[in-house]
Amino acid sequence: MNEKNGLLIAFEGIDGTGKSTQLTHLGKHLEEKGCQVVMTFEPSDGPYGKQIRELFVNRKNVSPEEELELFIQDRRQHVNEVIEPALAAGKIVLTDRYYFSTVAYQGAAGCDPETIFAKNNFAPEPDMVVLLTIEAKQSLERIRQLRGETPNDFEQEEQLTQVAALFSSFTHPFIKRVDASKSFDDVQASIRNETDLLLQKKEHPCIRG
Ligand code: TYD
Repeated sequence: MNEKNGLLIAFEGIDGTGKSTQLTHLGKHLEEKGCQVVMTFEPSDGPYGKQIRELFVNRKNVSPEEELELFIQDRRQHVNEVIEPALAAGKIVLTDRYYFSTVAYQGAAGCDPETIFAKNNFAPEPDMVVLLTIEAKQSLERIRQLRGETPNDFEQEEQLTQVAALFSSFTHPFIKRVDASKSFDDVQASIRNETDLLLQKKEHPCIRG
């Protein structure tokens, strides 16, 4: 952590965990407490992120290695332009996906997980990762029913099961696992609890009460 109390919290998990909505609720809660919060996401809305989103439609034209390079380039830009300036200004940064997604997804696509971690060594280590866990089958049900979406190429069950297995293999002490099959309110309560513990540990000015 830097001297201005900037904090980086990444939300991770397979598709369909409710990650983005949980992040937004935590962000609003922190803002109500008077914290300065930046909510952001990857793939970003920059040029590489846009290229990546185009790939979701037609993924077959690109190799896993090329895909990996695009995610890394997108992250480099996101870190330089959004994450690092916000941390330097003492803000709490909540990012919807970070480099653990690259290790899990591009790892499941055939790239070597350790190599992917090494390629991300420019990215600041997060203070906490909220890892939302759910069975691949249940996440796909949610995507179909709640969003009325047909899962895209990234979202096939077999592949998602491999992605989930990689997420569950991570042992970093700052990773907090939250069971995303529970009710929305239960999940949000667990996330707030972990966040409060982090703020207390860091003696952050936004400590509750
Ligand atoms: P997601 O956060 O689900 O975007 P959206 O809100 O548009 O649904 O991310 C899109 C997909 O990108 C998701 O299936 C995971 C994948 N992804 C990777 O494969 N590698 C990465 O490094 C990142 C950040 C995402």
